Amino acid sequence: MKNDDLKLIDAARKAADRAYAPYSGYKVGAAIRSKKGNIYTGCNIENASYSLTVCAERNALAQAVINGEKEFSVIAIYVDSDMLFPPCGACRQVLSEFSLDLRVIYANKNEIHTALIKELLPESFQLRKV
Ligand code: THU
Repeated sequence: MKNDDLKLIDAARKAADRAYAPYSGYKVGAAIRSKKGNIYTGCNIENASYSLTVCAERNALAQAVINGEKEFSVIAIYVDSDMLFPPCGACRQVLSEFSLDLRVIYANKNEIHTALIKELLPESFQLRKV
């Protein structure tokens, strides 16, 4: 694995420390790298009204977009667990908005996996020509 990817996983791990996950106990962090080379992070933020929980990936993407970024090369997701957390279906759709070639790295305490977003969500819904 490239050093840049390991750095991104490390940023996701640090973001996971900030997760607010009192209900599930799963602390998730995400770090997305823009094509300009900047890194933005997010963590999962749970809610007592469970369905209002927002995943780490969508919070990282929101941080990036609010800072003026719309082009991304890779996102790393880290969960501090033995379970592996590939992005949920909702996050796959949201990540597919900006690039179908986005690389997705998902890691836990023991494993690192990689895939392209278009492999994780073929035929994502788009309102643009792809
Ligand atoms: N979670 C994420 O942050 N990202 C995913 O892609 C899957 C699930 C969070 C939501 C919830 O806080 C916890 O993991 C357990 O579902």
